[in-house]
Amino acid sequence: PKAQTIKLWNKAVPLGSRVRVFGHIHRLRVQKQATFLTLKDGYGFLQCVLAAGTLTQTYEALLFAQETSLFVYGELCSVPAGATAPDGRELHVDYYEVYGRAPGDAEAITNIVASGQQDPWESDMLDKRHLVLRGDKASAVMKLRSILYEAFILAFKDRRMAAVSPPAFVQTQVEGGSTLFKVPYYNEDAYLTQSSQLYLETCLPSMGDVYCIEKSFRAEKSLTRRHLSEYTHIEAELDGIVFDDLLVHIEDVICTVVDAVLADPAGKELVALLHPGFVKPQRPFKRMKYSEAIDWLNAQDPPVPNEFGNPHIFGDDIAEAAERKMVDTLNVPVLLTHFPVEVKAFYMKKDPSDLRVTESVDVLMPNVGEIVGGSMRMDGYDELMAAFKSKGLNPDPYYWYLDQRKYGTSPHGGYGLGLERLLAWLANQHTVRTCCLYPRFMGRAKP
Ligand code: 4AD
Ligand code: MG
Repeated sequence: PKAQTIKLWNKAVPLGSRVRVFGHIHRLRVQKQATFLTLKDGYGFLQCVLAAGTLTQTYEALLFAQETSLFVYGELCSVPAGATAPDGRELHVDYYEVYGRAPGDAEAITNIVASGQQDPWESDMLDKRHLVLRGDKASAVMKLRSILYEAFILAFKDRRMAAVSPPAFVQTQVEGGSTLFKVPYYNEDAYLTQSSQLYLETCLPSMGDVYCIEKSFRAEKSLTRRHLSEYTHIEAELDGIVFDDLLVHIEDVICTVVDAVLADPAGKELVALLHPGFVKPQRPFKRMKYSEAIDWLNAQDPPVPNEFGNPHIFGDDIAEAAERKMVDTLNVPVLLTHFPVEVKAFYMKKDPSDLRVTESVDVLMPNVGEIVGGSMRMDGYDELMAAFKSKGLNPDPYYWYLDQRKYGTSPHGGYGLGLERLLAWLANQHTVRTCCLYPRFMGRAKP
């Protein structure tokens, strides 16, 4: 009988149908009475049963190896009582065509494919990332990433925000000169963008609230669990708001996307697999001012020192180690606000009630630390000019950004969220390196 080609996401095919499935061998078990293949097609895993004698088992053993690709044909059946199978169905194979053979270096490939979670620091595994991605753990993280990515687009769409696509080649910095990648650009120099924020701001008067999901590039000169040289940056800019609107929007979007992921059956299953016991965050998030965080760090027993080993004082950066101590102890999302002017970027608006600090926010998540950086923007021309001067920046390349303040300025603010960091939190990953397809960090630009 004729067979209908199916993909494993399709659960509507009636049991008893004769189907054809293309996939790769994920697991192989040869027994006396039958050969069992777990076939993967990118959507799921299907147990395939080849009764002994379909072909000689010696011949099968030659053809079949982990990652061998093939078409299998047969009747789609329910799983026998008492047994379980990943897809909830099994295929009784009556015919197959091997399409691409694999070398059958069984142990090597099995270890690589299974290693998705194990040691993302080992350079051998990073060289073989293309094979690691075939494993169920590594591919589960990538599938969850895809669902999370879509959830953001829908969350922004619901809030009537327009998607824009700012340039990657730029001639201005946003987040400090030390992490800029400079690239030759015809007869001049350009940088790879660190953030699309300044461009998003220019869209507000004509497009209303906007967002973009683009790559940002940072020449990070240290190797940490949460720094990449190239990462997916979800950025949004909101017009005609006050600082508290920004805070509410940020926690709202994070909760909306988490709810959307969990409302998706596949998303729910992936979170359960990767992050057993995951508890979704409660709104409103804990709010803490920078100055309260400094007091908190000093009040710990023993006090948490700053990056130079001294007690924290107002104006210190809260370095990664101190931040981690905070999130691990508090163990809930935190909106950390009102950072001092000197530790933050030039464009941040000062708090009118305390000019030493900015209307700025970082969102800290348990296990990861900072996942969002945002602020209200300085919207006065003279004030911004003064900020360029005090940060030692030449305002000339920013003429277009300054014009924004010249031609009818507005109270506005926005934020950037690192997708890999959010995913590290959601999927309970030790590092952002397992949260992107092919991680890029100092010393690595392959495969
Ligand atoms: O805090 P950052 O540097 O803020 C900005 O770039 C703002 N201009 C964004 C805006 O307001 N539109 O970066 C924002 C977020 C961080 O909180 C972090 O999640 C992520 O981007 N991020 C990185 N993720 C991975 N690797 C890196 N090297 C990152 N640098 C920042
Ligand atoms: Mg930041």
